[in-house]
Amino acid sequence: MSELDSFLEDNKSRFEDDLCEWLKMPSVSTDSAFADDVRKAANWLFGKLEELGLHTEIIETCGHPIVYAESPKIDGAPTVLVYGHYDVQPPDPLDEWQTPPFEPDVRDRKVYARGATDDKGQMITHLFGVEAWMKTVGSLPVQVKFLIEGEEECGSAGLNEFLAGKYDKDGLSVREKLSADIAVISDTSQYGPGMPAITYGLRGICYFQLNLTGPNQDLHSGAFGGSVTNPANALARMLSAIINEEGQIQIPGFYDDVAPLTEREKGQFEALHFSNDDYMKQLGVSGLSGEKGFSTLERRWARPTFDVNGLSSGYQGEGAKTVLPAKASAKFSFRLVPNQDPKTIGAALEKMLRELCPPGIEMELVHMHGANGFVLSLDSPFMQAASQAIEDGFGNKPVFIRSGGSIPVVNSFTELLGVDTLLLGWGQDDDNPHSPNEKFSLDDFQKGIRASTRLWEELSKIPV
Ligand code: BES
Ligand code: MN
Ligand code: MN
Repeated sequence: MSELDSFLEDNKSRFEDDLCEWLKMPSVSTDSAFADDVRKAANWLFGKLEELGLHTEIIETCGHPIVYAESPKIDGAPTVLVYGHYDVQPPDPLDEWQTPPFEPDVRDRKVYARGATDDKGQMITHLFGVEAWMKTVGSLPVQVKFLIEGEEECGSAGLNEFLAGKYDKDGLSVREKLSADIAVISDTSQYGPGMPAITYGLRGICYFQLNLTGPNQDLHSGAFGGSVTNPANALARMLSAIINEEGQIQIPGFYDDVAPLTEREKGQFEALHFSNDDYMKQLGVSGLSGEKGFSTLERRWARPTFDVNGLSSGYQGEGAKTVLPAKASAKFSFRLVPNQDPKTIGAALEKMLRELCPPGIEMELVHMHGANGFVLSLDSPFMQAASQAIEDGFGNKPVFIRSGGSIPVVNSFTELLGVDTLLLGWGQDDDNPHSPNEKFSLDDFQKGIRASTRLWEELSKIPV
């Protein structure tokens, strides 16, 4: 066994203990009540990276801090920018968790906790992949730069500010500081158990909040109902006008820029033999729906969507209350595919909603955040290197897939730094990210660490 492999073997349980320690910190970025915990999670990561001898810093932003660390430049070998996020989604609904979200619990070799797969568990495999080299060989075969943010789950305001502005410490611009030959992100999923994957495409997103205001206060629905516009009724009508029964979005021009799937890609999706029956079982539903004329994988990976993410209005307590609410609001978002522009869509949506808004209702549309989708070219030497590292780490060759989620920073890496991103996800489709009982397989975690140690070596063979 190589020195690296025996290091990984000897440290297996310590890697798992470290992960659990980090998972105990409730770094919920979107809720300011957790700000101190977010900071704690950042400091914990800072400590771990610094302990490896990396040049480590906390970069303050308008929001939660960025944790940055880098190893020395290696002449002739690539520089690899590793991105991840240490923030997590809110854990609610709390009563649906079998064990509390911030008390990591291991059952059947899976760790259950908020952030287990998204993204602490996945991100930290690269820290251990670096540690293995530092503590055996004494150095890395490539330069690694870690850029780990704390606001991915709520729109990355701080990171975007950092990327857009001038970084003037050490006299370096942001572009110089982050310059790299390739970026690596582990924040997606495998295709299935024992089927590791490289994700070559993600969807974009645009997120909105619609606030409707009617009468100056809640009213008796018997005394006043039928004579004034009920904001909750208006909200339901306006939302339902956005999409028709065939799953087609009705905003004028919405599909104009959609990049259609090529026959080749359609064939590749089919070759994955996706089972609708297994999928329905996994989700506990008796039927599926979506845009007419497309398969489930096409709908999930390569077609745009509209989803309401939250609704509020009227009486939410126990029993019945005959009220005509004064206000109604909804949070909703569109997943976008390559070539669709979130700003253009936001403008067209606003125009449509203003036309739909009935008399007696004031409407406000908040444009919360947006990002473009993208697809990457499969034939780069970096893809080959990653494929080999995954095969060595997981014991199987990866399949190439797209995914329906969004990782906005990938576009910034292309635009600002001119680098492509390898999306090497170690999660599983049923890991429950953003849902109750989020989990991560500890075997996938260990394989991910092994793939990471192999990745540095495979990438180092690519001349730059
Ligand atoms: N890790 C996810 C992205 C993801 C999810 C990729 C599922 C592939 C499959 C990431 O943390 C995330 O949740 N992103 C947000 C981005 C948004 C807040 C801008 C998303 O997709 O909702
Ligand atoms: Mn994530
Ligand atoms: Mn997420």
